[in-house]
Amino acid sequence: MCSISNIIVVSTLHILLACLLLHTTAQDSSRDALEFTIGIGSGSKDSYLSKGCNDEHHTLPFRLNCPLSRTLITTLPALASEKEVLEFADQRLALVYPVIQKFKSIITSDPLGITKTWLGSDVCSYRGFYCDNPPDNKSAIAVASIDFNGFQLAAPTLDGFLDKLPDIALFHANSNNFGGTLSPNIAKLRYLYELDISNNQFSGPFPAAVLDMSGLTFLDIRFNFFTGSVPVQIFTENLDALFINNNNFMIQLPDNIGSTHILCLTLANNKFNGPLPRSIFKAFPSLAEVLLLNDQLTGCIPYEIGLLKEAVVFDAGNNQLTGPLPFSLACLENLEQLNLAGNLLFGTVPEVLCELGKLVNLSLSDNYFIHVGPLCRILIERRVLDVRNNCIPGLPFQRSIVECANFFAHPRFCPRMWAHTYIPCKPFTYSSSIPEMAPSP
Ligand SMILES: *[C@@H]1O[C@H](CO)[C@@H](O)[C@H](O)[C@H]1NC(C)=O
Ligand SMILES: *[C@@H]1O[C@H](CO)[C@@H](O)[C@H](O)[C@H]1NC(C)=O
Repeated sequence: MCSISNIIVVSTLHILLACLLLHTTAQDSSRDALEFTIGIGSGSKDSYLSKGCNDEHHTLPFRLNCPLSRTLITTLPALASEKEVLEFADQRLALVYPVIQKFKSIITSDPLGITKTWLGSDVCSYRGFYCDNPPDNKSAIAVASIDFNGFQLAAPTLDGFLDKLPDIALFHANSNNFGGTLSPNIAKLRYLYELDISNNQFSGPFPAAVLDMSGLTFLDIRFNFFTGSVPVQIFTENLDALFINNNNFMIQLPDNIGSTHILCLTLANNKFNGPLPRSIFKAFPSLAEVLLLNDQLTGCIPYEIGLLKEAVVFDAGNNQLTGPLPFSLACLENLEQLNLAGNLLFGTVPEVLCELGKLVNLSLSDNYFIHVGPLCRILIERRVLDVRNNCIPGLPFQRSIVECANFFAHPRFCPRMWAHTYIPCKPFTYSSSIPEMAPSP
């Protein structure tokens, strides 16, 4: 399976540790802290007066060369009743403070009371925010990571928030109710390598800005309402994981993808056009999970599926795939789950497939298979193989003779029919003991 979650755990731990360390340093180095004043009772919580550097009305970006105002502290007592001094451990935190407060002001729902903690200058202690030393200045402190997973926050947009966190490396916000489109400005987030906005209400086109983010390795936008096409270039980006399932994308799998090193790819529950291109399997030799279910894939399964040597899960259930199963499936030695239920597949279930040692679930129900050999029958008994609702004589729960006859009344061909018994991983050693039958009722 994909080990992305382990990576996340490790990196989050790292950040937590860094935060603890930083917390200590921050207190020691308060001499260098920036001072800001924030007007209280003046109506707007967002109105900042940073003495000495704010000549344009509170605009961002913060000026890095602005002088520290030492006098502010000494004049403070006189103002104490009206003003509160915010001291930031680093100017980078001062910079994102107004961004966060502005975002807080557009949050429409916060059932868990998360944003109650988004108060004051200690941004690194806000729930969901984690700080670290940014790569370009190891003595600075910046918001490096956000983990809002499961916070159930609602906001109409992330614009003006995510794209204004210049040092962010990880942004995880799954299972919230954030909406709108993703700003093209996120392309400027030079350190962002993990973006997870799955299970939200995002809409609009594929966030093409990610194509310009060379450091991005993990993109999870599944379970949203994105529409339109998916740019082909995304498959050749630096990504390890690409999750775009359960949107309203129209995906035309390109016939010539080129090389990619995506390990996890989920395209399920979108709208696909056309066949599974042969090149997709050549392009993704290291894919561990392939989820293509409930799409509109058509055509025959090319023998190149056998090139997915690392595949553990392959799921293309509920499509319009047809033809016999390629014997090359025997090359998927790590395969644990294969779901091709609910397609238009026919012929024999290859015995070489049933021989795969790690299979725990082989779902071929609701197709038009006509034969299973002895090894596959063992899997049926062990409830690994499900061939219900096919056309296999002598097995229970099969389609009616009429239904099968109707299906086979139309001649059905696949291109390169010779190739479906070809086993690329052992081309010369295997010889089939089962005669390959032409489909007949
Ligand atoms: C690095 O960050 C520290 C702390 O914010 C700051 O004082 C210093 O000027 C920064 N160095 C550079 C080269 O920007
Ligand atoms: C096997 O996979 C199918 C399709 O994904 C699923 O519906 C079924 O529940 C699974 N069976 C078991 C025993 O896990």
